[in-house]
Amino acid sequence: MSAILAWVPVGAQKRHVHTVVEIPRVEARVIPIGTEKMQILLQVDEDGKVFMPHVGAPIANPQEFLRYKGGRRWLREAYPAQGGTFLGVPAFHVKYKDGTHNTELRYVSHQCHASDGVETTAVALSDYVTSLEVRLIFCAYAKENVIKAHTEITNAGKTPVELLEYASSALNLEADKYLLTHFRGDWAVEMQPVHEQLEYGTKVIESRRGTQGTRNENPSFLLSLGSDSFSEEYGDVLAGGLCWSGNFTLSFDRSVNGRLSILAGIASHASAYPLRPGKTFVTPDMVWTFSMEGAGGASRNLHRWARREGVYRGGTITPTLLNSWEGAYFDFTTPVLTGMIDDAARMGLEMFVLDDGWFGTKYPRNSDKCGLGDWELNSAKIPEGIEYLAAYAHEKGLKFGIWIEPEMVSPLSVLAETHPEWVVQSPGREIYQSRNQWCLDLSNPAVQDFVYGIFDRTMQLAPGIDYIKWDCNRPVVSFGSPYLGNEQDRFFVEYVQGLYSVMDRIREKYPDVMIQCCAGGGARVDYGALKRCNEFWTSDNTDAISRATIQYATSMVYPACAMASHVSAVPNHQTGNVTPLKMRFDMAAAGRLGMELQPKNLTEEERALAMRCIASYKGFREVVFTGDLYRLSSPVDSDYYSFMYVNEDKSKAVVFEFCLRYQARESRDRGLLLKGLDPARTYKVVEQNVDQSCWWGNGQFFHGDFLMEGGFNPRLVQSGASAIFVLEASQ
Ligand code: GLA
Repeated sequence: MSAILAWVPVGAQKRHVHTVVEIPRVEARVIPIGTEKMQILLQVDEDGKVFMPHVGAPIANPQEFLRYKGGRRWLREAYPAQGGTFLGVPAFHVKYKDGTHNTELRYVSHQCHASDGVETTAVALSDYVTSLEVRLIFCAYAKENVIKAHTEITNAGKTPVELLEYASSALNLEADKYLLTHFRGDWAVEMQPVHEQLEYGTKVIESRRGTQGTRNENPSFLLSLGSDSFSEEYGDVLAGGLCWSGNFTLSFDRSVNGRLSILAGIASHASAYPLRPGKTFVTPDMVWTFSMEGAGGASRNLHRWARREGVYRGGTITPTLLNSWEGAYFDFTTPVLTGMIDDAARMGLEMFVLDDGWFGTKYPRNSDKCGLGDWELNSAKIPEGIEYLAAYAHEKGLKFGIWIEPEMVSPLSVLAETHPEWVVQSPGREIYQSRNQWCLDLSNPAVQDFVYGIFDRTMQLAPGIDYIKWDCNRPVVSFGSPYLGNEQDRFFVEYVQGLYSVMDRIREKYPDVMIQCCAGGGARVDYGALKRCNEFWTSDNTDAISRATIQYATSMVYPACAMASHVSAVPNHQTGNVTPLKMRFDMAAAGRLGMELQPKNLTEEERALAMRCIASYKGFREVVFTGDLYRLSSPVDSDYYSFMYVNEDKSKAVVFEFCLRYQARESRDRGLLLKGLDPARTYKVVEQNVDQSCWWGNGQFFHGDFLMEGGFNPRLVQSGASAIFVLEASQ
């Protein structure tokens, strides 16, 4: 193929000659990408254009689309690029060296291969004028009903190009109505569900914070199709989550024809990415699922996929723990910590985690004002060393974990003095502080090595460090990397790539260490981080009432096995609310249970209750970690929050109910309609952690259908009352 535009001098004048490159013809075909209950169809036309005629339930004879006649198909390209006849929001937009902006992707070839219940389809496209290649990769998880998609962009030409838009994946849908559920949030009030009907135009969910990508919005959503209302049980729901811990954009463009185009990927904000000749850019994965059983079905699909692949060692039981933060903050010495370890062991907890405050020598970390970056033990606080503390915990039968915040540096630190060029900064401009700290420039490979070294050295502080809490307490502002020089457009992308490459190196050396991903609470809850971390810190807000909404919405996308949930003191340190200890335990038992308080401040009676709740949790947590979730009532729309987990063979279930606000006697007359049980089996129903049950049927046997049709009506008639029931099938 030759250049198509040439200026030919004719005497003193220039004559414009326009030649059009011939488009190669290909065989028309349909490429089905499918799971048991979800299908995406790609259709290739003879001119090589690739469309997406269908997303939804499987169509058994998709080849019939080859006979389809009708308009508007140009609106449904599988990966719409800026160029050609496309007028919508492009998934892909390239600026070429000659200043032109148009790309027209045409089919080249495709390949499929299947292994272990996953079918991978790679569709190669290329621009018919430039040498740009795009591969759309889809991995279809048959049983989980998840299709994971990403894109690989190769500059096969001779000059660099600029990627202005480079979505991971695009989907096209057609429905009468679209109800979008997404998650707004902030510190201590993460994951607040918002339901909004999509009107004509483009709705965008995004983050431009650099780090802490999920502080104000999560890169995930649910979309109820053809409906005004959100339903746990009924209707078609498409849902998805982007595997990326930085700037992201999810856009929902409802065209004038009513059709909806969804794009998901890295935000192009300040990130016109330069792609050199011969280089390939790989976008992050986007995870899609489709359910005909409402939002509940979509969540269960995502959870199953997450336990299989989305969460590092997902579905594996992680230990209950005591974290030192709210119990001691920065104010501790060895005896305080060994005292906490003793108490944790006595209560039946399985790990002790030493949080912030253990490091810094020239600038000891006795408050959040200094010390980040100087990851040496503060021996004034712990003269015996971390080794002693870890051994102390291990002797008591506990695992041992420790906190780091390796992407950050305090202005008051030896690190800031010795490596000022490692700080994110823009020439001549103020380096703004947030929580008295700056960000390190992870786009710089030297900084990546340093951050890897922090983790590696922390692991060497004691034999058998079992768990690392990896925190990240501020966003990037006034961004800039001294390392990237005049290519600052690479910063946001390469920061996250740098972070992932550090974490991947860590995982290679330390496959067994448990990592909690924390970012000032839940500001890094995404499937990019979770691929490398066992769990996330859901929120710094541990008030059981606040946690009801946070955990409810989190559960729509992320599985309980990864959701860290702690019992803290009252009045709650974030809200000042006072909730009963049992309610706090019952709420924490919905995920990975922990405690975060000074056990010395518990009364004997409270300690006894704690021991009882921890012991009972160990008896049913496997169902929480691996079971299917059914949300029964929403804490947002109801005074009661209830949900249940059912294990795979339906032999065991755990039901949770919380009375968030008791207002009137009638509010609970109907009882709960349980879900997911085997209607024909009998279950023994036993309430946990009480002497006096709130249900008349406690300890008795009932058929699944009775429990699912209204026979189960525990009486929780006080704000703050809560109950957990374990159901075990008798045969
Ligand atoms: C963040 C975390 C907390 C705690 C503190 C320590 O706020 O979310 O859990 O680790 O940092 O400074």
